Amino acid sequence: MILAIANQKGGVGKTTTVVNLAAALAARRKTVLVVDLDPQANATSGLGVEPKEGVSLYGALMRIADVNDFIVGTAVDRVNLIPSEVNLAGVEIELARMDDHLGGVRKVLKPVVDSKVFDYILVDCPPSLGILMSNALAAADAVLVPMQCEYYAMEGLSVILKLVERMRATGANPGLRVEGIAMTMYSHTRLADEVVAQVRDHYGDAVYKTVVPRSVRAGEAPSYGIPLVAYAPSTPVAQAYFILANEFLARQKALAGTDGKVDSIAPKSGAIA
Ligand SMILES: Nc1ncnc2c1ncn2[C@@H]1O[C@H](COP(=O)(O)OP(=O)(O)OP(=O)(O)O)[C@@H](O)[C@H]1O
Ligand SMILES: [Mg+2]
Repeated sequence: MILAIANQKGGVGKTTTVVNLAAALAARRKTVLVVDLDPQANATSGLGVEPKEGVSLYGALMRIADVNDFIVGTAVDRVNLIPSEVNLAGVEIELARMDDHLGGVRKVLKPVVDSKVFDYILVDCPPSLGILMSNALAAADAVLVPMQCEYYAMEGLSVILKLVERMRATGANPGLRVEGIAMTMYSHTRLADEVVAQVRDHYGDAVYKTVVPRSVRAGEAPSYGIPLVAYAPSTPVAQAYFILANEFLARQKALAGTDGKVDSIAPKSGAIA
């Protein structure tokens, strides 16, 4: 399945969630492909791969080569990667020109999905409501939304959830599910507690029970080119991502018994738009 990790807000923990969730799933013996769809290439370097011009989904989208030619190994066993690089920044324009401007990413990833080599394909989205993110949402089975435990995060959340709803309503991706909302960078402050409580109140079970704590260890991890989960598995942040992976897998298992269709998540109480 394809899981897009998305939030148009910058710096909320998308990339940290992608690389650590990937490593945690790999530790559960799942085979994972990370697709770095952000020209910043943070997931690429976070997984120990140096961005290289020409090696990204850009090449597949521009039909320069087969998508499989862009898949590389990473510092983590069972985690593979389609890296990002600067060219990806220009792909927005190219995608916008295509007749099916939302379907490009879905089309190029189809052979990878069909090959069934990977249990999970995690797509790291850039922090904007641009065409790359829309393409990721159009290609995905589900979206995981990381959000920071801070005051304005709620407003950002309603924006991305509306976009998901629009993908469904317009038929761009009628089956798109919200896999879950992951609260990140939690610190023991009254404000953070209030935000967590408010988000749980509005979105109920869509919010993962696990809350990822704030820690300087998470901030320094990218410079090592290996996710925290892989090199410091006993740290609180790594532990939180292991539990998040378990919650994710449990949800997948519960869904397997259904047709995969679930109701769109609506706020439980009051509108927050
Ligand atoms: N739990 C955490 N505790 C402390 N720092 C964190 C935590 N998670 C992420 N960070 C740091 O916060 C910054 C933003 O995180 P990250 O890059 O994962 O966010 P992002 O949403 O992908 O950002 P962007 O929108 O720029 O792509 C990074 O420097 C990262 O190392
Ligand atoms: Mg990022």
